[in-house]
Amino acid sequence: MRNFWITFKKPIYALAPMAGISDSAFRQICQSFGADAVFSEMISATAIVYNSKKTLELARFDRKAERPFVAQLFGSKPEHFAYAAEFITKKIKPDGLDINFGCPVKKVARQGAGAVLMNDLKLAREIVKAVLGATNLPVSIKCRSRVGAITVLDFLKTIKDLPVAAVMIHGRSLAQGHSGEVDFTIIKQARKYFSGIILANGGVKDEASAEEMLKKTEADGLGIGRGALGRPWIFKQFSIFNFQFSNKEIFETALKHTSLAHKLKGKQGIIEMRKHLCWYVRGLDNASELRKKLIQVESLSDVKNIIKSQITNTKLQTNYKFK
Ligand SMILES: Cc1cc2nc3c(=O)[nH]c(=O)nc-3n(C[C@H](O)[C@H](O)[C@H](O)COP(=O)(O)O)c2cc1C
Repeated sequence: MRNFWITFKKPIYALAPMAGISDSAFRQICQSFGADAVFSEMISATAIVYNSKKTLELARFDRKAERPFVAQLFGSKPEHFAYAAEFITKKIKPDGLDINFGCPVKKVARQGAGAVLMNDLKLAREIVKAVLGATNLPVSIKCRSRVGAITVLDFLKTIKDLPVAAVMIHGRSLAQGHSGEVDFTIIKQARKYFSGIILANGGVKDEASAEEMLKKTEADGLGIGRGALGRPWIFKQFSIFNFQFSNKEIFETALKHTSLAHKLKGKQGIIEMRKHLCWYVRGLDNASELRKKLIQVESLSDVKNIIKSQITNTKLQTNYKFK
């Protein structure tokens, strides 16, 4: 299978996996603004083994509007990873598979999954081998700069001989969680132990932080997480000098995103959009007044009415075309 990771012009800008956030609607919006690759929310390998329909839904994607699409698996049992990798490869046909070695959430850690796997390099290697053996898709991994005494460098040394296509390194330790300083140096050192694509991740929220991360890590690209929340045009911002985005464009994007979420998930999509809508209006003059309304929306027409009242003189476009 084609290794799409090596086909990009560098730097590569990917939407990082975010549970509860990076669903198909959000991924499509980010790709319409130029995200090079998008990751799914994390998908439980064990739940795939037990045939959970709800979990499988997390792996579904739009074959036209979301390419390349990478499905991310989490779990702790190599045999579950092998089953889920083969199942998703055959049934869902994503462009790549990713393994989660970075999640700090307690519920995940209690199952021995996510970042805590970096503490057990033997098991981590078995998991990578299990996935590689079960799929012909390019396999990537997402890990942390450090978990306890184990660094990403130890981790990469352990899998050096395996044909892993890409690694996204969150430059914060497990102890740091999702905040605090990013270790640029260790990401730069990763190149000594890994010959595939390296994506640096953590704290990129604008052109300046992207430039700093790329310069200090010499990575092939970046994984963008929270920097894209309510700001999916961040991907366009990276490629256009002095990029401007008007309030009207912000509202249009929010409506486009909501219409898509509604199309894909119905009323549940609108409920899930509430947080995104609040992120879209962040920084606007009347943000707090708008947030009070947006947090209560129940339907697509509720959202349209609020947004229309913000752009009274502009006819809002509702038939959006996605890339
Ligand atoms: C709400 C939320 C959900 C996340 N879910 C996942 C996930 O499913 N899989 C994963 O590997 N990382 C997950 N992450 C971590 C992000 O991919 C990323 O590593 C982290 O947010 C740091 O990048 P940032 O500073 O650009 O946000 C999540 C982060 C957040 C904030």
